[in-house]
Amino acid sequence: MAVQYRAPRGTQDVLPSQSYRWRFVEDLVTEVSALYGFRQIRFPTFEHTELFTRSVGDTTDVVQKEMYTFTVNGTERSITLRPEGTAGTMRAVLERGLLNEALPLKLSYLTSCFRYEKPQAGRLREFHQFGVEMLGSASPAADAEVIGVADEIFHTMGIKNLEIQLNSIGCPECRAKYHAALKAYFEGYKGQLCETCLTRLEKNPMRILDCKSPVCAEIAKDAPVMLDYLCDDCRVHFDGVKKRLDVMGIPYVINPKIVRGLDYYTKTVFEFVSNDLGAQSTVCGGGRYDGLIEQLGGAKTPGLGFAMGLERLLMIMDAQGIEIPKERACELYIANIGEEAGIKASALTNSLRREGFYVECDSVGRSLKAQMKYAGKIGARMSMVLGDDELAGGAAKVKNMATGEVRELKFEDLSDALYDLGVEDILAAIEEDQEER
Ligand code: HAM
Repeated sequence: MAVQYRAPRGTQDVLPSQSYRWRFVEDLVTEVSALYGFRQIRFPTFEHTELFTRSVGDTTDVVQKEMYTFTVNGTERSITLRPEGTAGTMRAVLERGLLNEALPLKLSYLTSCFRYEKPQAGRLREFHQFGVEMLGSASPAADAEVIGVADEIFHTMGIKNLEIQLNSIGCPECRAKYHAALKAYFEGYKGQLCETCLTRLEKNPMRILDCKSPVCAEIAKDAPVMLDYLCDDCRVHFDGVKKRLDVMGIPYVINPKIVRGLDYYTKTVFEFVSNDLGAQSTVCGGGRYDGLIEQLGGAKTPGLGFAMGLERLLMIMDAQGIEIPKERACELYIANIGEEAGIKASALTNSLRREGFYVECDSVGRSLKAQMKYAGKIGARMSMVLGDDELAGGAAKVKNMATGEVRELKFEDLSDALYDLGVEDILAAIEEDQEER
């Protein structure tokens, strides 16, 4: 049969055979970040477009080329699917008055994001991020803590060979001098820069450093770097971050070329880079954004955070052969022969499920042979067959599906046996019985 409907390009389905990997990663990031005091926030999939143009910045690739923006049902209101999680988090924080709570405010999120990019390995149009945001601390201790959470997550997952690249892109004061130097440098290449970068030259020359055009990238190679222009305050802050990472035993390298693709950053910026990802080598990126809350209409409040791409994270885990605990398999399949036995099977299955066991029975009306085939297909660990004799005797033979060995158990002992012994022990007991005989 021809497939009639295909998923839009750059999107992925997570099938049941893979979804346990997602749940594992989502649980782990949530648990590790909770140890650092980050509590989850959830916010809408779409926001008013101005929120993103104001925060992410209207000279960025994300805003200029990648947003899914639309108006709804003939209204004039422009809506955009979130391209990232920071802007929505800040909007919610301001709208719901969260800055009145104890500071620093520490939030985390697991969210889908949408960017109209050219899809390739590790680059999707709908992708997923885990992120944290911390508001209300201007201290370098906060920068080290935020980098520390990401590092601990990767460490707990067993991911190796990630490089933390660190840079400072200064504050509005020192950046003004840097912009002037950059502008002077790029003026000399006006004839070669792409259209977009020509407008960036006037409005925000630092964005040229992030341009994906090979010509602009080549020109940008020898451009001045921000680290040479940091003011005293920004330099002291950066030194404070480095010192803390040193004593926390978190290795990093300084990469003066990191500018990040979003406009809200100030001072510290960082990326976690892997060589298991091909061209899309950044699995996690973030930094400080001390002006963002104010820019969105709030009181001056320092902030910082990061987001990691979950698809990229899973790609690295795959490439590094990191094993994810498999999902719990069906513990008992209760097959039946005949109507009466089928009714008993439903009752037994239901009561065992209520006690927390993973039990299945026939819900199709199949033959015994077909039921057992199904039990094999779903990987049931044990099975039992109910027929007239079993109903009369109130007991059935429980079979270890891997070895074929059996042990008789009364119906009323079934849940106690599963409870007291656990599946592994019952399987072992069946084996022992067999050996004794
Ligand atoms: P970002 O660097 O744009 O930062 O994205 C963070 C991560 O999301 C990237 O490192 C990457 O793993 C993943 N990612 C981005 N685009 C794609 C894509 N098209 N396909 C697959 N994965 C992708 C932000 O979004 C900031 N909001 C991070 C942040 C939070 N900064 C401060 N707080």
